[in-house]
Amino acid sequence: MDRAGTIPMIGKLNHVAIAVPDLDAAVQTYRDVLGAAVSKPLPLPEHGVVTVFVTLPNAKIELLHPLGADSPIAGYLARNPSGGIHHVCYEVEDIRAARDRLAAEGARVLGGGEPSTGAHGKPVLFLHPKDFHGALIELEEV
Ligand code: CO
Repeated sequence: MDRAGTIPMIGKLNHVAIAVPDLDAAVQTYRDVLGAAVSKPLPLPEHGVVTVFVTLPNAKIELLHPLGADSPIAGYLARNPSGGIHHVCYEVEDIRAARDRLAAEGARVLGGGEPSTGAHGKPVLFLHPKDFHGALIELEEV
C-alpha cells in the first residue's frame, strides 16, 4: 500500500451536519437557546435539502432538512426520527487529487466520483461511511 497517509490530505473541519425533522425548531434552539449566529434557510433542490448554517468561531454547524420527495436524508430521518449527526465535512485543497488518492486506497467515493457544487458554491464529494468507521464524510475544496 502506498503511504499516502503520511502526506496530509484533509485540512480544517469545515462543518458538522445535523439532520433535523423540524428546521424552525432547530434554528430557534441554535439562535435563541445557544446564542449562535444562524443563516437564513438555503434551499438546495439539486441536493434535496434545505440548509441553515450556524457559524461558530472555528467551524460551522449545518442544519439539514429534507426538500422534495426523494431527499437523500429522508431515510436517515426515518431511522432517526428526532434527528442526529449526519456527516462531517473536511477541507481539502484539491478535491480531484484527494478523490484519486482515496480511490487508489480503495475508499468508495459516492455519486460516481464527480464533485458536485455544495452549499457554499464549492466542489464537494461524499465518501462511503463503511470505509470511514461509520461516519459519512464530505470533502470540500477550499
Ligand atoms: Co455538508
